[in-house]
Amino acid sequence: MEVNCGLGYTIHITTEIQFGFLEQDFVVTDRNVFQLYRDRFSMVKDGHLVVLKPGERTKRLRSVKKICRAMQKANCDRHTRLVAVGGGVVGDVAGFAAAVYLRGVDYVQVPTTLLSMVDSSVGGKTAVNLHGKKNAMGAFKQPKAVYICTNFLATLPGRELASGDGEILKTAFLDADLLDYICANKTAFFAKERSVVTEVIARCIAFKARIVEQDETEKGLRKILNLGHTVGHALEAAEKFRLSHGAYVLNGLIYEARIAKHLGLIEDAYFRQIVQLCEIALCNKLAPLPASLTDYALTDKKNADGKIVCVLPVEKGVTTERAFTADEFRQLMEAVV
Ligand SMILES: NC(=O)c1ccc[n+]([C@@H]2O[C@H](COP(=O)([O-])OP(=O)(O)OC[C@H]3O[C@@H](n4cnc5c(N)ncnc54)[C@H](O)[C@@H]3O)[C@@H](O)[C@H]2O)c1
Repeated sequence: MEVNCGLGYTIHITTEIQFGFLEQDFVVTDRNVFQLYRDRFSMVKDGHLVVLKPGERTKRLRSVKKICRAMQKANCDRHTRLVAVGGGVVGDVAGFAAAVYLRGVDYVQVPTTLLSMVDSSVGGKTAVNLHGKKNAMGAFKQPKAVYICTNFLATLPGRELASGDGEILKTAFLDADLLDYICANKTAFFAKERSVVTEVIARCIAFKARIVEQDETEKGLRKILNLGHTVGHALEAAEKFRLSHGAYVLNGLIYEARIAKHLGLIEDAYFRQIVQLCEIALCNKLAPLPASLTDYALTDKKNADGKIVCVLPVEKGVTTERAFTADEFRQLMEAVV
């Protein structure tokens, strides 16, 4: 299956692991993926591979420098193609390296987690965290192609499969058709039946590509993709990345739905539907809110005029943006715990 993205590249979806490396490729992956798929990397030229430590803590400037230095040592030039084989962490870090090495080289995404297949591999956002603050440095840099091979999911641990639900449900609360599809196939979706998951991946990336085509650098429409992420990112940073990224997005979706309810913005039935789906994905393990949440929310990239901006759900496929002072946000969070 192929999804043509109006940003000038194609997203290929296959079940088999079908990707190869070109002579000039420089490859970035993480240790877990490398160990599981070692034979795939035997095709990579000597000195053209960086294997990063797995996990969110790798999303830092030091990793970008490590990749760029290894590329320099391997005499990579502007014709080098960087290939990111891994989850969202590898994709974000390698994408950032591709954006800055020699002022930019082409790169390709080969996502290996559910979360990166449905979301982070598409759209061209690259980033690292800075001083514990999420995605504080980065660049918009579109990949030249995305190769999604759903067979990678066969080795993905349960916690990481469930993490994919965060970005999938976020997309479903923006795209009414996807929400209907998930609700019509709820048992199979949560059991991660392959045919349903493949359909969901295709729908999620087609939706994201449509939004990004219209607003590549998040001046307006693209902001809706941050649903659940103001609280989610703040909680993730405040808890120092204890849980998976998707788990924080699910927490964010529930807390932001509660804010919408508190402000009288959302219909009751839709509120219950959001909470119910997110709770299934989270197995009812809602994270408590730390006192430092507002401090972290104050560093969110969407903020404007010193106010904390939240994208809130209203009805199926409809959101609204609201901005709060730090005091208002703190009071809201106290009201919705
Ligand atoms: N750029 C974007 O638009 C965008 C969008 C959403 C999220 N993100 C970012 O993505 C990151 C989260 O990505 P993630 O959830 O993929 O996390 P991740 O990259 O940390 O991967 C999760 C874990 O799964 C392991 N793994 C990867 N593929 C595997 C496989 N096939 N089999 C077994 N283990 C495998 C990894 O080694 C890691 O331990 C966050 O930093 C988030 O901010 C970026």
